Amino acid sequence: MELMEAMKGRRSVRRFQDRLVPKEMIENILGVMEYSPNAGNRNSIRTIVLTNRDEIDYIGKAHTTVINNFNKGVMTLPSEEEIEKSPSAFHNAPTVLALFGPKNFYFSSADAYILAQNIALAAYEQGVSTCIVGEVLNSMGTEKGQSLQKAFGIPENFAPQVYVTMGYCQGNYPKRLPRHYAPVIYR
Ligand SMILES: Cc1cc2nc3c(=O)[nH]c(=O)nc-3n(C[C@H](O)[C@H](O)[C@H](O)COP(=O)(O)O)c2cc1C
Repeated sequence: MELMEAMKGRRSVRRFQDRLVPKEMIENILGVMEYSPNAGNRNSIRTIVLTNRDEIDYIGKAHTTVINNFNKGVMTLPSEEEIEKSPSAFHNAPTVLALFGPKNFYFSSADAYILAQNIALAAYEQGVSTCIVGEVLNSMGTEKGQSLQKAFGIPENFAPQVYVTMGYCQGNYPKRLPRHYAPVIYR
């Protein structure tokens, strides 16, 4: 597939079939890690492929709670009760990639988002749908989130930077939303 065709055709998908993307295909898609630009070529992003429903739901619900609170100006960590009541930011995705970066590295976020887009394009080429879900503050900052992070083998000085949900599109493939950028200025 031509690059422009992938860039034009990829859409954010938020409804997925109840079917896992085979591990070999995910490995193949993650081959883009070898080619993605990253600051200083430090290769500091650590990727976790989540397929456990409870883990996906916990982080997805925590993400929604943190973002809703953030939008209300509340920066404190959410309670487990609040998290439990929230819908998941990951919708019903069967697979979620969590991209972690060092907290003290200026370009963690940039590295992770660039990689996320490359993953999304490579996935699209393989017929796999994705949605980039941006991180705000730290959805895994709660005690439970931190113990999950420890179980993933990710050190405390790392934080999730972005997530990529992944699966097979359920229903109609989304239409392209028109863009409304300010005109580019050439001087
Ligand atoms: C930085 C960033 C953060 C995003 N966060 C979310 C998110 O939290 N939830 C979501 O459903 N989509 C999220 N998206 C997907 C955008 O909503 C989507 O790219 C946009 O609506 C354009 O649609 P398209 O990707 O289908 O072209 C995010 C995309 C980017 C680039």
